[in-house]
Amino acid sequence: MNLKRILFDTDPGIDDALAILLALASPELEVDGISVINGNCSVDNGAANALAVLELAKANHIPVARGFDLPLVQPSLLAPETHGNTGLGYAKLPAPKTKPVAQHSVDFLAEKILSAPGEITLVCIGPLTNVAVAIRKEPRIVQAVKDVIIMGGAIRHQGNTTPVAEFNVYVDPHAAHMVYHSGMPITLVPLDVTYQCILTPDDVRRLQKIKSPIPQFVADSTRFYMEFHDEFQKIEGCVINDPLALALTFAPELCDYEEHYVDVDISGGVSMGNTYADFYKMTKNAANMKVALGVRARDFVELFLERMEQLSKKISE
Ligand code: BDR
Ligand code: CA
Repeated sequence: MNLKRILFDTDPGIDDALAILLALASPELEVDGISVINGNCSVDNGAANALAVLELAKANHIPVARGFDLPLVQPSLLAPETHGNTGLGYAKLPAPKTKPVAQHSVDFLAEKILSAPGEITLVCIGPLTNVAVAIRKEPRIVQAVKDVIIMGGAIRHQGNTTPVAEFNVYVDPHAAHMVYHSGMPITLVPLDVTYQCILTPDDVRRLQKIKSPIPQFVADSTRFYMEFHDEFQKIEGCVINDPLALALTFAPELCDYEEHYVDVDISGGVSMGNTYADFYKMTKNAANMKVALGVRARDFVELFLERMEQLSKKISE
């Protein structure tokens, strides 16, 4: 089988960690590297979390690069109420033995993409600061990247950070604006689809039937995330945004897509960070991305659970 090569840009983060584990559990994929950005937690915590999750899955050969610890223009906004102070909820993983590579994320992303033109899928599951600056520094990556899957935005759905804005976009709307208008081949995975993908307490109990550190990690991290969803959004369980974006690299049929011109409000008012699609083609602008607007949510959650079970068994062998 020809493996699909992916690079993550991520702010790990509970659902980011689950997306990394899903990638490691997926035989279709080869993970070329992980670039870290601030968002759910500081970039230092995020890099340590990425390394610790890789060690948990016995995959610490995968390089991790550290990116920016601030958005381009906006002040820093972290999400301790959603992901806990260090980013992984109640999970306490051993401190990683490995370290991030010396290269900054911007150079790491550009070098990896340019070294394999047309081969790398970039999976962006955090604020887009690193990717925006990589495009400015090395614009050839726009043509060289195979495709870009971006978890972000709320098109018809309400926001999860302001009434109209989704977290990844709201943290760095200027970066999102740059990436959306860069000409990269983008698939957007907004809250419209991710908020249908709920991991339930029963799902976690099913995983815990396997005695392995991975179900324990999933249980400890998502317990915190579920408390957040219960308290703030009246959702029983937790939304696994980032794993859905990753799954579309090898199972695009999980979603239905429409091509649209999508823009981001960076005007600084109450709708700062709002992402909107020109459904009626009023702007006459050409579509700049594919947008996932329908999802077979339970099929996806089942796929996630099956792969977590397989990975859990594999690392305990
Ligand atoms: C996004 O923001 C973060 O909380 C999650 O990790 C996800 O990437 C959802 O809005
Ligand atoms: Ca994320």
